Amino acid sequence: MTIFEQRESSIRAYSRVYPVTFATANNARQTDTDGKEYIDFFAGAGVLNFGHNNALMKQAIIEYLQADGVLHSLDMQTEAKAAFIQRFSDVILAPRNMPHRLQFTGPTGTNAVEAAMKLARRVTGRPHIVAFHQGFHGMTLGSLAATANPYFRGAAGVPLEHVSHHPLGTSDTDAHALIAELRAQCNADKPAAFLVETIQAEGGVNVVDRQWIQSLASLAKDLGALLIVDDIQVGCGRTGSYFSFDDLDIEPDIVCLAKGVGGIGTPLALNLVRPELDDHWSPGEHTGTFRGQNLSFVAGKVALEYFTDAKLMNEVREKTDFMLATLQPLLAKDSSLQLRGKGMIMGLDLGDGERAASIVGRCFDSGLLIASCGMGGKVLKLIPPLTISQQDLAAGLDILIRTTEHVLEEAA
Ligand SMILES: Cc1ncc(COP(=O)(O)O)c(C=O)c1O
Repeated sequence: MTIFEQRESSIRAYSRVYPVTFATANNARQTDTDGKEYIDFFAGAGVLNFGHNNALMKQAIIEYLQADGVLHSLDMQTEAKAAFIQRFSDVILAPRNMPHRLQFTGPTGTNAVEAAMKLARRVTGRPHIVAFHQGFHGMTLGSLAATANPYFRGAAGVPLEHVSHHPLGTSDTDAHALIAELRAQCNADKPAAFLVETIQAEGGVNVVDRQWIQSLASLAKDLGALLIVDDIQVGCGRTGSYFSFDDLDIEPDIVCLAKGVGGIGTPLALNLVRPELDDHWSPGEHTGTFRGQNLSFVAGKVALEYFTDAKLMNEVREKTDFMLATLQPLLAKDSSLQLRGKGMIMGLDLGDGERAASIVGRCFDSGLLIASCGMGGKVLKLIPPLTISQQDLAAGLDILIRTTEHVLEEAA
């Protein structure tokens, strides 16, 4: 028995899917203790947009450590935090005319969502929040109430209240009807906020329809409710632009960010909050010991440099096209397969969780880390680092395609 089996909690999940011990990692590759290399199409569930051990970020962190930079500071002011906020403001907010303030929360995404839900309820004086079928927002009680998956909800042990779930609009044909239905329901019970992912990553890579989300934004305005976009998994460049909603023509009141925002994989979570809403907080009301990690500020500031010119985002577009073109023959072979996505998050829907699990396991044996998502785990989620080399991207897709063909042939 390994030390993990002996002593680590039964709650272990990914370590059961990838049952080796990893030793080192670089960009889109991880190496286990036997020296076997794996191409990483999982990237820490969207944390490692800039790859494992990004050389530029690693160097900045080493220099910060060598200079005895402050590592822990609660929410005190540090040079590293000032530099991050300034760069975020200059590179991300100012060019978009976003007046939002940065609220650093506890270091995981769920805590940013908790804070967003609290603030929406505070500002509006309304308890009810609207979330969506298959939405995923975290595991703590507030955000869990907004998470749709019954498996996760079942672990709560208490009723999860004051959140209702509605169908997500993913096609322009039903956008109008869905919003009309939502409007009727919300008129009877006005919500504090609409909490939405523009692409439901955990929920099966479901991409919102542009017209639907614009109508949702108007509905929020009409009702005096907030529009909260949870960009925790699909923000920070994943879709070919910093925010996943950059091309959607909406203006969220609160944007939740985590995962990739710390750059190198160390935790950092924050909300971007409109100032007039942020003014409703009193000091320390949503406190936490680890609000703002200095190493994440240092690496996260380096990550922002990728958004000062078009190079990486152009590469994302090229790699997206390459992924689509490479997967096309597989889709043509089997009409039951569906591919969804936006930029470098793609979901290959197999319509069957067992088949997807078998592909995940065999890909792992062949040296590819990929995970499943969606109801019953029937969707394979392709979410490699944005910085993956062309060679690794091609090699990873090759493993995926060969394995999928094999599993489909067996099932035929
Ligand atoms: C969209 C979204 N929101 C919230 C969370 C929760 O983040 P964390 O696991 O860091 O608490 C996740 C995690 O996968 C997520 O994908």
